[in-house]
Amino acid sequence: MKRTHHCSQLRATDVGHKVALAGWVHVRRDHGGIVFIDLRDREGLTQIVFDPQHNKPSWELAQALRSEFVVAVEGVVRSRPAGTDNPKLPTGQIEVLVHTLEVLNSSETPPFQIDETQAGEDLRLQYRYLDLRRPAMAKNLILRHKVAKAVRDYFDANRFLEVETPILFKSTPEGAREYLVPSRVNPGKFYALPQSPQQFKQMLMVAGVERYFQIAKCFRDEDLRADRQPEFTQIDIEMSFVTRDDVLAMMEGLVAHIWQAARGEKLPLPFQRMAYKDVMERFGSDKPDTRFGMELVDFTEDFKASAFKVFRSAVDSGGVVKALNAKGLAGATQGQIEQLTETAKSFGAKGLAYIKVEAGEWKSPIVKFFSEAEKAALIQKLKIEEGDLILFGADKRESVWEVLGRLRLVVADILKKTGKLTVRDDQWNFLWVIDFPLLEYRPEEGKYYARQHPFTAAVPEDVHLLDTDPLKVRGSQYDLVLNGQEMAGGSIRIHRPDMQKKMFEEVLKIPADVAKARFGYMLEAFRYGAPPHGGIAFGFDRLVATLCGTSNIRDVIAFPKTAKAFDLMTDSPSEVEPKQLRDLHIKLDLES
Ligand code: AMO
Ligand code: AMP
Repeated sequence: MKRTHHCSQLRATDVGHKVALAGWVHVRRDHGGIVFIDLRDREGLTQIVFDPQHNKPSWELAQALRSEFVVAVEGVVRSRPAGTDNPKLPTGQIEVLVHTLEVLNSSETPPFQIDETQAGEDLRLQYRYLDLRRPAMAKNLILRHKVAKAVRDYFDANRFLEVETPILFKSTPEGAREYLVPSRVNPGKFYALPQSPQQFKQMLMVAGVERYFQIAKCFRDEDLRADRQPEFTQIDIEMSFVTRDDVLAMMEGLVAHIWQAARGEKLPLPFQRMAYKDVMERFGSDKPDTRFGMELVDFTEDFKASAFKVFRSAVDSGGVVKALNAKGLAGATQGQIEQLTETAKSFGAKGLAYIKVEAGEWKSPIVKFFSEAEKAALIQKLKIEEGDLILFGADKRESVWEVLGRLRLVVADILKKTGKLTVRDDQWNFLWVIDFPLLEYRPEEGKYYARQHPFTAAVPEDVHLLDTDPLKVRGSQYDLVLNGQEMAGGSIRIHRPDMQKKMFEEVLKIPADVAKARFGYMLEAFRYGAPPHGGIAFGFDRLVATLCGTSNIRDVIAFPKTAKAFDLMTDSPSEVEPKQLRDLHIKLDLES
């Protein structure tokens, strides 16, 4: 029996045609001796009918059919009797009256129903091959494929080359923790799995490839969350002879092409841009959700001589006072305020000063310390009105950003739940965050670290500050943020060997011998005419998850790992034979 159609294909116009379908028994119903089955394949469902009046042998055979049996059928398309249409199904107007049934395989009763009801995620992951049969999951896989196809089409049209880079790479313990792979033929030596193809793509630029992309597997041994996997996929890109604006424009074109292909939607270009300093001051986050306001407002000047000691001493010691207006939350109970305070403390706050604006009054333990001028400033800058809840942060600048930035999201969630704030999932607020600081200082270690990676160039105007005021130096880094998520990040790179060496040795204080051992080949490669270059990488899983309307990237990865980096289906990682370890020159004797 050769399949003629898939299960989402037949329409009223096919009535009378002889067809052959194949798939899984999704649901079976018996009505007055007639057997109805929803037959499911990757594309959808078709109702098939076994009628003893029509064909006794196949009706008899159909008695044995249970959920998830695999069958092939031949029959004739007919209209469903009036009133039995299913408008929810594309094939809902027809059914196939079967005259031949072939049972291709039986199935044990599955551990969960293959329908939209959600089984526990661990069970779904253990039986992932069944979970992926769920129509919602099949849809995600199909969309993922479509996006990958759109990416390849776009880059092909723009003369990029897709180049594969190695998975067995070298340990470069700068960024996230790496996965190590012992070498059998080189005793005591290890490969590392790449955290990204960063160094290879830069070598490809030295090699004259000019425009590279890859849909690349990356490996990071990090603590996992809903938007992180130990093994994930990037759309990785690098270009030669470009400025930052060239890269951003090319990527805007890519995103627009993807949205067109996946959603049939035309995105307005160009995307908004904001400097790091500004997003931090306004949203307290370098990946702000800009679909709603509730911005942080600065009151440092207004409270520098305040009678309220908490604020004044924050300003005296070089910190800031900022506030946000949670409109509609004045009804919060004392218990809820205490809860918010605890949440703020878990973000690093020392306390959470607040004002509730209720029944024309400011209810707050601290307003008694405020002068008229201070109150006027609050009213004017926060546009205070009845029903508002004002929350304050007073501390070091970075701490206030962190606390109020995260509180803003917590408060938004509360307001969303009570219907006081509407944030649409299909509103696409793309935002380029630019002008990041190149370096951060870790006082515990007395050292500077590259905020992105040590290959990012300083913006040209700031290079002279590298020796005198390193924290003032802006990197040529750019991040693409969408609705509170970091979708992509990249930079213009250092391409001059002297500058790269200075970065490693003088700025990041990586000892010369260590820099040489880890990155010597890069420094050498740059001596042979490296072109100026820059690039970016998108989190492909995150991008697809967004398009699929899920915040969990596991929903768009065929075989993901759990939060403990475990593969429940294959039961991995697992122990290995002593002989395997011996071959690899490894002895396990550390207490864990
Ligand atoms: P970066 O580390 O910012 O940059 O990574 C790029 C994008 O990859 C996604 N991402 C992840 N997705 C799922 N699970 C993870 N564990 C995970 N980690 C990162 C994010 C992020 O924006 N080589 C540089 C890029 C460059 O400079 O060109 C890099 O890897 O969406
Ligand atoms: P206190 O004087 O410590 O009792 O604090 C008075 C109010 O200010 C309380 O509501 C505290 O939660 C709040 N508070 C204390 N420290 C801070 C801070 N650093 N930022 C914001 N509010 C604070």
